[in-house]
Amino acid sequence: MKLAFWRKKKPAPKAAAPEQVVVTDPRLIGLRTDILPMCVRTYNQDGLATLHNTAFAFEPDFSAAYAAAVDTGSWGGADIHWRAHVICWAARLATGLEGDFVECGTNRGGTAMLVVKYLGSLLHDRQIFLFDTFQGLDQSVSTADEMTRLTGHYVECYEETAARFSPFPNVKAIRGMVPEVLRTSAPEKIAFLHIDLNAAEPERAAIEMLWPRLSPGAPVVFDDYAWVACQNQKNALDEFAALAGVRILSLPTGQGLLFKPAQKR
Ligand SMILES: C[S@@+](CC[C@H](N)C(=O)[O-])C[C@H]1O[C@@H](n2cnc3c(N)ncnc32)[C@H](O)[C@@H]1O
Repeated sequence: MKLAFWRKKKPAPKAAAPEQVVVTDPRLIGLRTDILPMCVRTYNQDGLATLHNTAFAFEPDFSAAYAAAVDTGSWGGADIHWRAHVICWAARLATGLEGDFVECGTNRGGTAMLVVKYLGSLLHDRQIFLFDTFQGLDQSVSTADEMTRLTGHYVECYEETAARFSPFPNVKAIRGMVPEVLRTSAPEKIAFLHIDLNAAEPERAAIEMLWPRLSPGAPVVFDDYAWVACQNQKNALDEFAALAGVRILSLPTGQGLLFKPAQKR
């Protein structure tokens, strides 16, 4: 039977209006507005745009440590909240392990200050070793491409960095070329390692040399591991990892994360 043609059709339900872009905090959103349009963005900086929860960035201990790190001038005006969160998380975990804290690649002390301020008195019983030439990449262990890419990026900053950490007697800023300087000055037991040299070979040499000294379960954060522009660093670190029988986790922040296995491999 034919349907009565006069029966009114129900109006089709209206399509849900796209959610408005809500800028939760301008410090986290950065300048680009073309990524993830029509969504509630919570984060858009440092190569990462996401809708996920950024509550960590507003925790008072993180905010204070982050502000102190920015004040060093080491990050050249870049905002790196999520990278900083990863470092703080890993460093806090390391306070439960035996050993000292080591950073290879400190510049003016941005990430080092972040950790020192974030953990505060939790670091009272350990040393924090900061290794750097404090004057940029070393030609003898860096490729021509790495040297060219970073020319003019880093300038002499030893005196100012050492002075910056002078209120913290357990922090040692040690000038020297990685890996050479590690032979004489690296601690015997390490609970936390941050590698941020922007050069593949010294990064590989550093992890090779320090791997046996890491406590079981110790976290290692590689700053540049997953950046597309840093493929050489990833290749070198993956070669190390394959020999050590481990795999490095790529993070959306551009970092790589690794833990020293609890069992000897
Ligand atoms: C990306 S910066 C480190 C940034 C630092 N983590 C921060 O929070 O600002 C890289 C640093 O590695 C240092 N560097 C590069 N190659 C080196 C090497 N072979 N030995 C020692 N330092 C090196 C540079 O002098 C530079 O300060």
